[in-house]
Amino acid sequence: PRRVTTHVLSEMKMKGEKIAMLTAYDYSLAHIVDRAGVDVILVGDSASNVMAGWETTLPITLDQMIYHGASVVRAVERSLVVVDLPFGSYQGNSKEALTSSIRIMKETAADAVKIEGGSEVIESVQRILSAGIPVMGHLGLTPQSIHKFGTYAVRARQEEEANKLIEDAHLLQEAGCFAIVLEKIPADLAGRVAQELHIPIIGIGAGNQVDGQVLVIHDMLGINQEFSPRFLRRYHNLYAEITGAVGNYIDDVKSVDFPNEREQY
Ligand code: KIV
Ligand code: NA
Repeated sequence: PRRVTTHVLSEMKMKGEKIAMLTAYDYSLAHIVDRAGVDVILVGDSASNVMAGWETTLPITLDQMIYHGASVVRAVERSLVVVDLPFGSYQGNSKEALTSSIRIMKETAADAVKIEGGSEVIESVQRILSAGIPVMGHLGLTPQSIHKFGTYAVRARQEEEANKLIEDAHLLQEAGCFAIVLEKIPADLAGRVAQELHIPIIGIGAGNQVDGQVLVIHDMLGINQEFSPRFLRRYHNLYAEITGAVGNYIDDVKSVDFPNEREQY
């Protein structure tokens, strides 16, 4: 199968073919997700939550994102791989944004970076793009700003914030971003952005009038149980499955059923 490029994603939007995106943070899961045929793999800074157990995405470092990114890229044959720029690696400093992005591209061999925000980070976006590095935008509920928002509630319900989001989306497109993630905003607003823009709009908690969807793999597989927003559809209950398997292993060890004669030398 041919590799997914930013050009392929733009063709998919033109044809009305939806884009399926999932996160991955390690070699083994990325291998499964890639071979299953997902279009885009996001090495999200949600690794801070699901891999490292932090409450927010703020603590994860650029070095840690690079470790996750390189692990994912080594597994991937087809999907486009996007790596999140973590908190503190780009805000308020376009030179640092470029340096961080170059490190990601060189040390992980990923295809693109993702950056949270609109007008506040547009100089960084332009500078990264000027180095030939593809940039994916991220608007709406941008978790690196959780301390500013004070809540993980739906964003842009009010007209003022909705108008700024639409302006930001246009800014990012004009700067040259190849796609934008819209997180946790009203479906009609997301649909309007997808209609006005020619670049693909990927939603998470943003309804189905957009060009594609993204979920955190640990959430959709039910590996973690704590997180259950309305927008999450669980495709498996891996927490229960793994608990069962581990329980069986413990029982077999305790009862000396494992290992048997065929499982020894
Ligand atoms: O880090 C992440 O997983 C993300 C997606 C939720 C879009 O940014
Ligand atoms: Na993220």
